[in-house]
Amino acid sequence: MVTNRTFTMLKPDAVEKGHIGAILDKITASGFRIVAMKLTQMTTADAKEFYAIHKERPFYGELVEYMTRGPIVAAILEKNNAVEDFRTIIGATNPEEAAEGTIRKLYATSIGENAIHGSDSDENAAIEGAFHFAGREMF
Ligand code: RTP
Ligand code: MG
Repeated sequence: MVTNRTFTMLKPDAVEKGHIGAILDKITASGFRIVAMKLTQMTTADAKEFYAIHKERPFYGELVEYMTRGPIVAAILEKNNAVEDFRTIIGATNPEEAAEGTIRKLYATSIGENAIHGSDSDENAAIEGAFHFAGREMF
């Protein structure tokens, strides 16, 4: 099912550094409509579940620590071809490999602390949006 929606989180490093406004500006200037948005903080259980796909990876513990250490901005975004186009504007996981002008190139610190999340498929966008906005009529 193609919904033209994706899900994002502005991660704790981006929020700590005061980049919420600049990143949202870039997202909306790139043609995404904000369907739902909130400032929230993930619990350890939340982060473990959200990133369960990575539980065997060596960075899983660090990832859970990082994602729970402070507030995040969670949002559902809408645009034609949302998942793919959003992955393009955020750039590669490792900011050293991210294209010029991408959000990770501009605001990420390292491969671990990389400022922003973007869903990697329509299916995961729906799962992740529901994870953060369950019960909302809009999703
Ligand atoms: P995301 O899911 O957050 O949008 O990032 P992604 O698809 O680009 O990367 P993924 O492979 O799904 O990894 C999820 C997050 O784990 C952290 N990570 N750390 N230290 C490391 O080698 C490493 N590799 C990945 C990053 O925060 C990455 O975004
Ligand atoms: Mg991913």
